[in-house]
Amino acid sequence: MNWKITEKGWSKELISTLGNRFLIGNGYMGVRGTLEEYKKEQMPAINLAGLYDRVGDGWREPLNAPNGLFAQLKIDDTWYLVPEMENKEHEISLDYRHGIFSRRTVWSTKRGIVTVIGERFADFNHPHLLCMSYSIEADFHADIALLTGIDGDVWDINGPHYDKILFQNVGNYLSAEAVTHECGDTVLVMESCYYDFAGEEKLKEKEKQSFRQISFVTEPNKTYTFEKEIVIYTSKDSVAYKEKAEKELKKAVKTGYDALKREHEKTWEEKWCTKEIEIEGDDEAMEALNYSMYQLECIAPRHEKSMSIPARGLSGQTYKGAVFWDTEMFMLDFFLFTEPEVAKTLMKYRIDTLEGARKKAASYGFDGAFYAWESQEGGYDACSDYNVTDVFTGRPMRTYFKDKQIHISAAVVYGIMRYVEMTGDDTILAEGGAQTVLECARFYESLLVKKVCSEQYELHDVIGPDEYHERVNNNGYTNRMAKFTFESALQVLDYVDRKKLPLPDMNGSEAWQTDRLRMKYQDAIARLYLPKPDTDGVIPQFDGYRSLEDVSVAEVRSRLLHEKEYWGGAYGVASHTQVIKQADVVTWLTLFPKDYDLDVKLKNWNYYEPRTEHGSSLSACMYALLGCKCNMQEKAYPLFLKSAKADLSDGGKEWAGLIYIGGTHPAAAGGAYMTAVEGFGGLTIENQSLRIEPKLPKHWKKLRFHIWFRGELYEVTLTHETTKLEKL
Ligand code: IFM
Repeated sequence: MNWKITEKGWSKELISTLGNRFLIGNGYMGVRGTLEEYKKEQMPAINLAGLYDRVGDGWREPLNAPNGLFAQLKIDDTWYLVPEMENKEHEISLDYRHGIFSRRTVWSTKRGIVTVIGERFADFNHPHLLCMSYSIEADFHADIALLTGIDGDVWDINGPHYDKILFQNVGNYLSAEAVTHECGDTVLVMESCYYDFAGEEKLKEKEKQSFRQISFVTEPNKTYTFEKEIVIYTSKDSVAYKEKAEKELKKAVKTGYDALKREHEKTWEEKWCTKEIEIEGDDEAMEALNYSMYQLECIAPRHEKSMSIPARGLSGQTYKGAVFWDTEMFMLDFFLFTEPEVAKTLMKYRIDTLEGARKKAASYGFDGAFYAWESQEGGYDACSDYNVTDVFTGRPMRTYFKDKQIHISAAVVYGIMRYVEMTGDDTILAEGGAQTVLECARFYESLLVKKVCSEQYELHDVIGPDEYHERVNNNGYTNRMAKFTFESALQVLDYVDRKKLPLPDMNGSEAWQTDRLRMKYQDAIARLYLPKPDTDGVIPQFDGYRSLEDVSVAEVRSRLLHEKEYWGGAYGVASHTQVIKQADVVTWLTLFPKDYDLDVKLKNWNYYEPRTEHGSSLSACMYALLGCKCNMQEKAYPLFLKSAKADLSDGGKEWAGLIYIGGTHPAAAGGAYMTAVEGFGGLTIENQSLRIEPKLPKHWKKLRFHIWFRGELYEVTLTHETTKLEKL
């Protein structure tokens, strides 16, 4: 198996894509796969987890730290920078077994050849530390000047976020203290640059930048290496952030690049011991799958006890660095099966942002907890009322994602209950999980609609996972998830009674007695309407769906007047058709396969798949998963590969209307993992125990992986003939 990806040559068009694909990270920071010489136009970013800022009317977004990786090279008085100066050879690589990015560029100058090799890693053992090495070799006596330090003029979508940056030269270190606009938080970057040869150093400060220029003359064919350690702390990390940063930097410098790299590699190796997935007979799938897991590893918040993962990971500011349902429904299983402590951190984030969800519900006049569609700190909903820009008029378009995607609260419930089911650890319920589930049930209860002439409950005016059809009634997925929430609430009430816990404080309401709640939720479960299959077995996605125009995805695409035109909303090309953006009914049937028999599942897969644009990277894996449940592993396979390669293939969707939505796709990565383990591996949990019914694609000879389940580690080895589940 090849654990390295490489891109040879350079092209302006690939700057954004490669920045994502070659990302390194350690959960505290994500560092885009960009070059040292890049300025903000080329989108370099050291994206920080969980810290946001807003400037003016722009969207609130996460911060990119001042760039301590910055380095530009002058040879014989001419700048040699990849975007501007043609090179002889250039390539970047990512060793995704160890999270190490490297670049190699060869320039042909008037006097000879110069080779530059850069390498970096976001230290897996020290979340605040970023390490870099930069080597220069010339085959002649080159006059070299290396400009390196901290570039505070960072790439932002809605910035600039730093009102002021204070640069200092502390001993051998450069430091930048950048103060954010909205809350006055400080992001401190301290950088050290070490080299063991004689060079003349001059400090150069410009607005927002502090560099040192190191000049020297090379001996032919001798390598000159600079090692940089960069430490990042924010005032939110600790009040003593400066002392901590300085101490950590000193320690890192003392340890040195090579030793830090060795330790970092060792930690990654330890991770892969139980995380690597082996697929015999399909290197392409094995590499794409392990790469997907690499992406999830880079963004796992191990440095916190309560934090989640944004929809675009730590690859930049797209989608405002916000947390969506992507975490619970697509990424969580990976962490539950491979590192349950991280899964708990993700769910604690939801529990700790319950207050924000309550406020959101109240703001719409509902009870309980309505979670943020795009959640930032404290559960603040960053989703704008105008999430898309009309390509024709340039005007913002009213979208209803924030107001109507009520399925988000059920996703939170799903995550908590799945955590309990898979770990067997129900302490999370006593730590606020029970209250969260009950508040979500209360939210759905306050939304139930009963027509005078009917006994059933309905949910009106919602948006399901298929975002192209807004404000529909009785979206099957949403209703099913609401039902699941009521069912979960009953389990939680049993837990509360069993443990003799006081009922959590629900605003002092008298209605909060377990028996009364139990009756309400039993009633809701019994009477909540779920769309039934039509005579042909197809479950209508929402009321009236099947009377919409039935055209192909290609036909809808051909009606576009502009390639970046938004397909949904009031006037979108798909809105009045049965063409959908992403798996919707299919997500329902994937999550609750026992709701219907094989025949219905198959009919729905066959009906909806050709009508799905797969316009979201969340879509393919749900079809792949259900495909496996329908014994169609060969049809599932390309969809699985599409998910696993979401960040490896070119041509991903980077625009929604005129809004940039590029970045990494951790939900697709998580979906690929789920498909491998739960789809092809056929792993399910029934009555608190593991069941395996493998559905390997024909050409897979063996699938081997490890999973954690209820505190025990298992090794699973599957072939077409044998199924082995071994407790280690
Ligand atoms: O959560 C998704 C949503 O389902 C489709 N649009 C993108 C979001 C973030 O990935």
